Amino acid sequence: MLWKTLANTHKTLLLCITIITVLSLAVGLPLSSQFGEAGSRHLFWFLCITIVSIVVGIGALLLYEEKRVRSLKEQVNKKTQDLEKAEENYRSLVESTEDFIFTVDETGYFQSLNSFTANFFGGTPSQFVGRPLSVLFSEDVALQQLRLIRVVYQFGKSVRDEFMVTTGEHQAWINANFMPLKDERERVVSVLCIARDITENKKLENQLVSTEKMASMGTLAAGVAHELNNPLGVILGFTDLLLEKFDKDSQDYQDLRTIERHSLNCKQVVENLLSFARQGEGVSEYCDIYEAIHEIVGVVKHSLDMNSIELRLDLVPGLPRVKGDARQMQQVLLNLINNAAAALKEGGILEIETSFDKSQNRVRVVVCDNGHGIKEEHMENIFDPFFTTKCEGEGTGLGLFVSHGIITKYEGTITCESSTENRRQRSKGTSFTVMLKPKEGNRS
Ligand SMILES: Nc1ncnc2c1ncn2[C@@H]1O[C@H](COP(=O)(O)OP(=O)(O)O)[C@@H](O)[C@H]1O
Ligand SMILES: [Mg+2]
Repeated sequence: MLWKTLANTHKTLLLCITIITVLSLAVGLPLSSQFGEAGSRHLFWFLCITIVSIVVGIGALLLYEEKRVRSLKEQVNKKTQDLEKAEENYRSLVESTEDFIFTVDETGYFQSLNSFTANFFGGTPSQFVGRPLSVLFSEDVALQQLRLIRVVYQFGKSVRDEFMVTTGEHQAWINANFMPLKDERERVVSVLCIARDITENKKLENQLVSTEKMASMGTLAAGVAHELNNPLGVILGFTDLLLEKFDKDSQDYQDLRTIERHSLNCKQVVENLLSFARQGEGVSEYCDIYEAIHEIVGVVKHSLDMNSIELRLDLVPGLPRVKGDARQMQQVLLNLINNAAAALKEGGILEIETSFDKSQNRVRVVVCDNGHGIKEEHMENIFDPFFTTKCEGEGTGLGLFVSHGIITKYEGTITCESSTENRRQRSKGTSFTVMLKPKEGNRS
């Protein structure tokens, strides 16, 4: 036991002492027998001195060893504390970050996860450890992730992908990186995933794509409209001439009226497209939105009354003038009002509100109705050209497209919220919010 604890140098030292003792005995004993009684006495003292020096040597060695062991223990303790501190630092780093961080085994079971991930899904880490990916993610997403995890295990390389995660009503897009964690023999023992919420980026990306799509569609549509305008004029002109030649009761006359009706529909489409193309040609630079709304309300009031639609106005006078041509602004308002009226076939309430949004420095105009609402799957298409849910002849699908073009032209935004059924947060209906840029210097 003692032998084991001794360092090599000490072992050698001890060995030397033993050899010296054995040698001195081996030499001393024969000598003592030669020199008689005096020799024995000398040998006795010689042995005493040797034993004492061996005992003192061993004692000193033991003391030295104990000191060395103590200092080693202290060093180990310090290193352990340092390690614990470093681990604590890493843990708090992982815990305080607003990223999803977790480790999983080859079968897709959680080995660990940070509080942010667990909280996001409404739980604590201990609730999810040892459970499969599908407790947090939908079946599809969990399967997709499991495929990636297997790739990481197989090739030992990181892989990255994007997923949509859902918690209750909340949906988020995450960008996840799956990385291999290897042991000292370079074998993958676990997969570490670090993922980040990229919902906002996705939204911006989609907006950008749709703005670009709109811009190119607009240019294309305007070009087509220009081409169609002349032939349509010719068709309508000749139809008019022919109509005069036939008897009103004849079949030919009726057929010509059908041609005329459809050509007029086409003309309506073309005019909408042309008005989109003419957006750059606004006459006035700024307009008074209060006046614009009053004028347009004067035009539509009667027909709203006839359709049992109650018009509620909540207009703030004295708002700053906004960037935009008055006639084009009225066209936008008219489109929104007509759409609302179309959604209120059985009557209802149409509200127009104005206010000033100080935080965004914008004049806000809200047109909302309690009509049938827009289906969720249609929401991303409503601003697309020719998107309509109305019957043939009733809608062209250009109203919102043109309105969006006008508003963005004047650095404003137009957004829509809609619900097809009464929910806790909002009741059935549609609300369009238009944010307009105020004239500089009017307000800050
Ligand atoms: N207030 C609203 N309520 C319900 N649906 C609406 C409303 N506004 C727009 N929509 C939907 O958006 C579509 C596109 O509108 P729009 O571009 O004005 O074309 P159109 O009115 O010719 O159909 C409509 O067909 C309708 O489905
Ligand atoms: Mg419309």
